Amino acid sequence: MIAQTPPMGWNTWNTFGHNISDKLIRETADAMVELGYRDAGYEYVVIDDCWSLMERDYTTGRLVPDPEKFPHGMKSLADYIHAKGLKFGIYSCAGVRTCAGYPSSFDHEYEDARTFAEWGVDLLKYDFCNFPNYANNKNRYLTMSMALRSTGREIVFSACNWGRGEPWNWMRSIGAHMYRSTHDINDSYASMADILVSQLPNLNANAAGCFNDLDMLTVGMHGEGNVGCGSCTTPEEYVTEFAFWCMAGSPLMMGGDIRSLDEASRRLLQDRELIRINQDAECRPAYQANGTTKDFPILIKLLEGGELALAFFNLKDADRRLEMPFPDLGLPYASGVGLELTDILSGERLGIRRDDLRIIVPAHGVRIFRGRLITL
Ligand code: GLA
Repeated sequence: MIAQTPPMGWNTWNTFGHNISDKLIRETADAMVELGYRDAGYEYVVIDDCWSLMERDYTTGRLVPDPEKFPHGMKSLADYIHAKGLKFGIYSCAGVRTCAGYPSSFDHEYEDARTFAEWGVDLLKYDFCNFPNYANNKNRYLTMSMALRSTGREIVFSACNWGRGEPWNWMRSIGAHMYRSTHDINDSYASMADILVSQLPNLNANAAGCFNDLDMLTVGMHGEGNVGCGSCTTPEEYVTEFAFWCMAGSPLMMGGDIRSLDEASRRLLQDRELIRINQDAECRPAYQANGTTKDFPILIKLLEGGELALAFFNLKDADRRLEMPFPDLGLPYASGVGLELTDILSGERLGIRRDDLRIIVPAHGVRIFRGRLITL
């Protein structure tokens, strides 16, 4: 089975938009390996929109990679990526044209799925622009899902209909492995926080095989690139973003230029403790603690082996004291069971607590802990 845990990788869109090429993809695949991303768990190298010619081949009806951007074709690129122990992703759209106006797969689902499988594609991101009014959203995602299945190749189906028709209620059943649930992210705190708040009620459909995709990460973009907006996200806000994506069980698709990310961003994206939470084998969705609000959500994610992760988010502009009473974790004092806590970001060991945890969370920040159940 594919996508047992949230898929991890890199996607061209956030930084490069239409400025993509064979050279960029090969260099990024090299960087995935040489700079430690592959060893941290990142696997898929995904080409987003703008990779094809503006028209299909007139004789075969097939999509054609733009020979200026991809002079060696897609099969050769896929082979290169596979030889590095990575996987290859590509993009199409359920409508009649992609968002950037290139040909897409409406009424071509089966021939395109066959083409992708022949090229060695391992993931298809499937967008929702230019979708005809008369067509049915759910049915068209189902059609591409069945087309991919019919190829016999294991291809992660990354559906991207921006939350239309409450996909958390049906994308799993029609065969998607991940589904975008929101509008597009940009590299700003406001955009990230908006996605975070909007998806708090929609995390509980996550389980092995299909995950709510909060969009490509902006960590390390620092205002540059296609969805950059002039350096408006701070390093601390990137930590909040990454910690939330990990707690939420979202796929982790990096969107920065990983060939040259700053050291703090690279370390954050490769943080083994945060990734371990995201990739926990039980894949339990996080839940929001009783009575916590959308401005100061506290999330709990049960992990395998009697552990849990506990994350305190402060989405407002001033530092804030937050409190987690342990009875709300199912641990009343009389249970005789406490939590041995470690602050994941600082590494500080807090020892065993059995009443509550009260902490100051910085503005726009997160404090995140790993807890282990201890019988006292
Ligand atoms: C939509 C998607 C984005 C990206 C662009 C490409 O906006 O939501 O993630 O794929 O299309 O044009």
